[in-house]
Amino acid sequence: MKTEVTPVATLRLDEFNMKRDTFRRAGLEAIDRGEVALLLLAGGMGTRLGYDGPKGTYPIEADKSIFACLFDNLREEIGDRSIPFFVMTSDKNDEATRAFFEEKNYFGYDPSQICFYRQEMAQATDFDGAPLYEDVNVPATSPNGNGGFFKSLIKAGYRKKLEGVRWLNVFGVDNVLAKIADPEFIGALICEGKHAGVKAVMKTGPDEKVGVVCARNGRPSVIDYTQMTEEMCNERDKDGNLVYAAGVTVNYLFDTSILLSTLNEGLPVHKVEKKIPYLSDIHGRPWRLGSEPGEHIEPTEPNGYKYEIMITDLIEDFPDFLPVEVEREKEFAPVKNLHGVDSVDSARELLKRNGK
Ligand code: UTP
Repeated sequence: MKTEVTPVATLRLDEFNMKRDTFRRAGLEAIDRGEVALLLLAGGMGTRLGYDGPKGTYPIEADKSIFACLFDNLREEIGDRSIPFFVMTSDKNDEATRAFFEEKNYFGYDPSQICFYRQEMAQATDFDGAPLYEDVNVPATSPNGNGGFFKSLIKAGYRKKLEGVRWLNVFGVDNVLAKIADPEFIGALICEGKHAGVKAVMKTGPDEKVGVVCARNGRPSVIDYTQMTEEMCNERDKDGNLVYAAGVTVNYLFDTSILLSTLNEGLPVHKVEKKIPYLSDIHGRPWRLGSEPGEHIEPTEPNGYKYEIMITDLIEDFPDFLPVEVEREKEFAPVKNLHGVDSVDSARELLKRNGK
């Protein structure tokens, strides 16, 4: 069957601003009834940043880590309330992440509300699909993408902790301006009768490389910029606005009852070309079971695939999905690279501009 991609309406800033007080009230009531929990996606490898440690521990200011920024942002939203705060790590960074939280005294947050768990790992391969090894008999593995956050959470035994929690605010580790547990965002979904939503930044132009919200055969979805045709990128409405313009940030709200109903469903696995450190044999080829080990290689170009499931695929399981426009300058400062676009440099500049 041919997939039909169609636009989805965004809750634009002007409308949001008009309803802000109502949203705020509804969101705070939900928080005070214990219906909201946070889930920090901190299992990624952060390879583009090239920092030797969990990305959240990166000192974005001389004396302030990315994690510390996120907790400051949280306090701005909910004051001294405390709600469950899940932290998804991976085998690669779990111990270092936990140790950092402890060393920093859980950033002043109630430690009994902070629940760590590990996501699953996936075997990396070369371009022919043969497994790579990081050491003799040790497969090269990497975190299996952020799409499995809920399955791993339940597998880790946190179902009980979710009782009464209607909204899970799932957010990435790297946006230092992210407003989390934002009552106005939560209230917007409640008041508009939606079951899932995302904070969206409107595209600056047709060519910006960001995934945007759309519908596929009527189901809510996110389309990657690589899949968008020239025509879609440039399509405008009667007011001259781009039709496919709601760029997703990693700040989602999900109705947990629907997340629970998706547990038995599989998500597509994406092959992603990456630089994968591996052990060679004595001939310089990737080491295979039974061969003579050579040396450890740090490739400078992609040499194989990692296998990932993505949070954006989960959205199709929801009956609706509301993109809520945010002010880019105030809420979007992702740290992906050291310099240039979406970098430590640009995030520092944005923090300063926001008086943080
Ligand atoms: P990114 O794709 O930007 O993060 O994920 P990354 O994979 O860590 O970065 P690069 O590409 O290697 O530089 C967005 C969010 O999803 C989390 C990340 O930690 C980040 O918060 N994530 C990603 C996971 O929690 N697990 C994963 O397996 C992948």
